[in-house]
Amino acid sequence: MRPWSRQRHDPRLSAHPIGDLPTMLSNYRIAIIGTGNIGGALLGGLLKAKLTKPDQIVATCASQERLEYLSREFAVESGLDNRAAVEQAEIVLLCVKPKTVPTVLAELNSIENHSQRLYISVAAGITTGSIEETLGSGTPVIRAMPNIPALVDSAATAIALGRHATEDHGRLAQQMFQAVGTVCRVAEGLMNAVTGLSGSGPAYIYMVIEALTDGGVKMGLSRQVALRLATQTVLGSALLVRETGTHPAVLRDQVTTPGGTAIAAIHELEIGGLRPMLINAVVTATQRSKELSSMAQNDG
Ligand SMILES: NC(=O)c1ccc[n+]([C@@H]2O[C@H](COP(=O)([O-])OP(=O)(O)OC[C@H]3O[C@@H](n4cnc5c(N)ncnc54)[C@H](OP(=O)(O)O)[C@@H]3O)[C@@H](O)[C@H]2O)c1
Repeated sequence: MRPWSRQRHDPRLSAHPIGDLPTMLSNYRIAIIGTGNIGGALLGGLLKAKLTKPDQIVATCASQERLEYLSREFAVESGLDNRAAVEQAEIVLLCVKPKTVPTVLAELNSIENHSQRLYISVAAGITTGSIEETLGSGTPVIRAMPNIPALVDSAATAIALGRHATEDHGRLAQQMFQAVGTVCRVAEGLMNAVTGLSGSGPAYIYMVIEALTDGGVKMGLSRQVALRLATQTVLGSALLVRETGTHPAVLRDQVTTPGGTAIAAIHELEIGGLRPMLINAVVTATQRSKELSSMAQNDG
């Protein structure tokens, strides 16, 4: 592994554009710009998976309080200066809120050789094209949409490659998000659909868990027991789909005894329109994501 200078950008990097180096995260210094929920989850995931070492990461945020937390919790170099962090890094993870992206990009604009860094943005609605436009043509940019279970290494992430991102860049991003869950590759045009499904999806599932729990409470279970059973039922059912690769409709038929309890409940769910309601939820969230994305592009 190449030795890293902890404080300074290695000048040899200018002779080694990122695409020419090995596609192992351990070869690069990473700047996490905006280390809040998602940035912090990625930081924790990368360290836990030993994909990188604390001295290969520099993390920024906006407050002294968060800064102290990051140094204490992860023992990484942290700071408030985004420009200084990016100058030291070959991979830049943009994890600030979408409305903060233009401010951060403006701070980074005058740095040279953006094309020798890989930028990975998780900011909802911010296109790779708008980042390329600000940082300069030729900048490799990858857009990612993780979700909040990244906090427990169980995120569903989709990534889309910008015009100048290579397959090697894609592999680096994939490694990074695999540290906190599962990763799919999609065309950037589908990122709004990803936001409508998995980006916003945890909110739908929390409602399902909450409602199942209330059902249990209504039928006499303690809230504590009902919540535990509801949570494990959602988790276990999802794991069974993932581990067996069996279509969920087949699994549902397997647990539906003729004349039994499950079919009585399924009848109620069909009358209530559970399936069209969830489909509509994804459709509406996707449309909202499109609206927010065009507002973000216009603001930028
Ligand atoms: N949360 C999700 O479920 C989710 C899912 C997919 C994608 N995303 C995307 O992830 C991004 C971050 O979301 P989040 O939930 O992690 O938000 P968050 O917890 O609020 O994190 C944002 C971080 O940015 C820092 N920050 C603010 N201004 C800054 C600046 N000028 N320079 C450097 N750092 C700055 C904040 O610092 P302080 O803590 O010091 O204020 C905070 O730590 C968003 O773009 C969002 O669209 C989020």
